[in-house]
Amino acid sequence: MDFDRYDRIRPIRWMGDHLALLDQRKLPFVVEDVHCTDSDAVAAAIRDLVVRGAPAIGISAAWGAVLAGREVQAEDGAGALALLAPALDRLQAARPTAVNLMWALARIRRVLRVAGDNWREVLECEARAIETEDLAANRHMGALGAALIAPGSGVLTHCNTGSLATAGFGTALGVIRAGVAEGRIGGVFASETRPWLQGARLTVWELLEDGIPATLVADGAAAHLMKGGQVQWVIVGADRICANGDVANKIGTYSHAIAARHHGVRVMVVAPSSTVDMDTASGEGIEIEMRDPAEMLSMAGTRTVAEGVLAWNPVFDVTPAGLVDAIVTERGVVQQPDAARMAAMFGAGGPR
Ligand code: MRU
Repeated sequence: MDFDRYDRIRPIRWMGDHLALLDQRKLPFVVEDVHCTDSDAVAAAIRDLVVRGAPAIGISAAWGAVLAGREVQAEDGAGALALLAPALDRLQAARPTAVNLMWALARIRRVLRVAGDNWREVLECEARAIETEDLAANRHMGALGAALIAPGSGVLTHCNTGSLATAGFGTALGVIRAGVAEGRIGGVFASETRPWLQGARLTVWELLEDGIPATLVADGAAAHLMKGGQVQWVIVGADRICANGDVANKIGTYSHAIAARHHGVRVMVVAPSSTVDMDTASGEGIEIEMRDPAEMLSMAGTRTVAEGVLAWNPVFDVTPAGLVDAIVTERGVVQQPDAARMAAMFGAGGPR
């Protein structure tokens, strides 16, 4: 497919001496970068959602490690790693749910442990590899996922899983891009994704930039949409996929999956293998990020809720494997995921 036609946004750009991050808090009306010159600025950007989406935060953290490396003097990788440990720990603590963050920093630690006096080049090469491998994985998953979609299907996606959430092209949105390019998709629906509005502010903007018609729906409209027969697939990304196939993703994914099962709509989860956590047995073991209730009390800076009201703001949920029809990764597709099928694709536990 013509990737240049469908994949033009780049949220993370290494500038040689700093990291430029497209400020996703301001999209779609202000297109502006945040320039990070040290690793703590990258950690803050991840925490504050300047950059978000599981693969994108892993890639950003890897570049954050490169920035941290500029601040220490060491004779070899092991010496550098000892000095960098606090900065790497601060990057890792920026957000708890997406395993890509831990995975990327584990890769950085692994290469540093064995690097010689050229450890700075090794570190930069590893960050670049994490980024380029993600783009390649997304393009491959796009083809694998699109092949599952019967021509003329309607699809519903949730949150933002596009170029903005990855090195480029996207996971679930990559499948939708590929499906549209192949003429398989008759209609694209995106749910708003309260409270931060990743669907409303980011996904439909990305699709508009690509010239792909998309219809925004309120999160609460999803079941009604499915009942009407306009959607054959719910296609979402993931922040962590457990050894038994349970999937942590943006809050609201679980209710979409329940509604999908009720209405005979299939659920596809699209994520690179960097999102698969074979060391966590089931969704019970995943820490669900709780964010400031203030995110729910206002919209676009205007308070919408009376003073004194309490709000509960978990930003991810877990969809049990039994509600998932297919997990698409760059290694292949796991149909009707369970522990045995996950182990057959990813091996049982241990380093990936
Ligand atoms: O809080 P966010 O915006 O980082 O949450 C993002 C999601 O839940 C995405 O669906 C997931 O990270 C996959 S992105 C390819």
